[in-house]
Amino acid sequence: MTDRYAVVGNPVAHSLSPEIHAAFARQTGQDIAYTRVLAPLDEFARTVETFRASGGKGLNVTVPFKGEAFRLATERTDRALAAEAVNTLRFDDGRVHGDTTDGPGLVRDIVDNLAVPLAGKRVLLVGAGGAARGVIQALLDTGIEALVLANRTVARARELADRFGSEVEPRGFDALGDAGFDVVVNATSASLSGEAPPLAPGVFAPGSLAYDMMYGKGETPFLVAARAAGAAQLTDGLGMLVEQAAESFLVWRGVRPQTAPVLAMLRGTE
Ligand code: ATR
Repeated sequence: MTDRYAVVGNPVAHSLSPEIHAAFARQTGQDIAYTRVLAPLDEFARTVETFRASGGKGLNVTVPFKGEAFRLATERTDRALAAEAVNTLRFDDGRVHGDTTDGPGLVRDIVDNLAVPLAGKRVLLVGAGGAARGVIQALLDTGIEALVLANRTVARARELADRFGSEVEPRGFDALGDAGFDVVVNATSASLSGEAPPLAPGVFAPGSLAYDMMYGKGETPFLVAARAAGAAQLTDGLGMLVEQAAESFLVWRGVRPQTAPVLAMLRGTE
C-alpha cells in the first residue's frame, strides 16, 4: 500500500515539497504519496492527529507551526532540541518522532552543492528568529572558526547566542566592523517586505559567499546588496529546501535520494 506523507503549514499552497518528494520517490522507487495540508492557525494539533489517524506516516511542518510541532512530538532528536523546532514528524506506532532537517540542509547545500568548505571559516548569521535558531547547531558542528550572530534587535541576538554558550558572538548591525566574513547567511524575513538587512559592504570578505535562506523569483534584496558589496558567490535558499527535503526523506524511508537532479529540475536547467 502507498505510504502517505504531506507538508502542513499556513499558507502551504506554494510549497514545492510535493514536487521534490515526488521526484525523490521516482528516483528511489519508493511507493509514497505526498500532498499539501492547510492547517487552520489554531488547529495544528488536530490537523496532525487527523492525518495520523487516517494512516499518514509522516509530515513536514512549515511556517508557522515548527514550534508547535516541537511541543507535540513525543520524542525529539538532539538537533530538534537545539533548534527547539521540528520540521519533520514520523509516526511510529503510538510515538511521534520529531526531527529538524533545516540545519543539515543548509550545511549540505553550502559544503556539497556549492563546494564551500565551512571548517575554519568566519561565518556571519543574520537574524535571530526561528530560521536562525534552526541552523546554528549545524553550522557550529562543521568546525567553523567563528559564528557571529547579528540582529536588528540586539537583545534578541544576545538571548539566542547565550543558548549556545560562548561559541556564538551576538552583535548589532553597526558593530560588525570591517572584518569581512567568508560566509554571510541571511536568516531574516526582511526580503518578505522587500528589504535587506542594513549590512556595511565591508562585511563581505573578498571571495565570500552570500547565502539567502529565502528563495523566490529573481534576486532577493539581500543578494542584490551582497552583489553590490562585492560578494563573490551568491545563492538563494532553493538548494537548502531540496537538501532539507532529502534529509526528511531519509528520516522517513531510510534512503537518501540524490539532490542534484531535483535541484536542476527546479532551477529549470534540465
Ligand atoms: P523566522 O521564524 O522566519 O526567523 P521571526 O522569528 O519573526 O521569523 O524572525 C524574523 C527575523 O527577521 C528577526 O531576526 C527580525 O529582526 P528583529 O528580531 O529585530 O525583529 C528579522 N527582520 C525582519 N525584518 C527585518 C528587516 N527589515 N531588517 C532587518 N531584520 C529584519
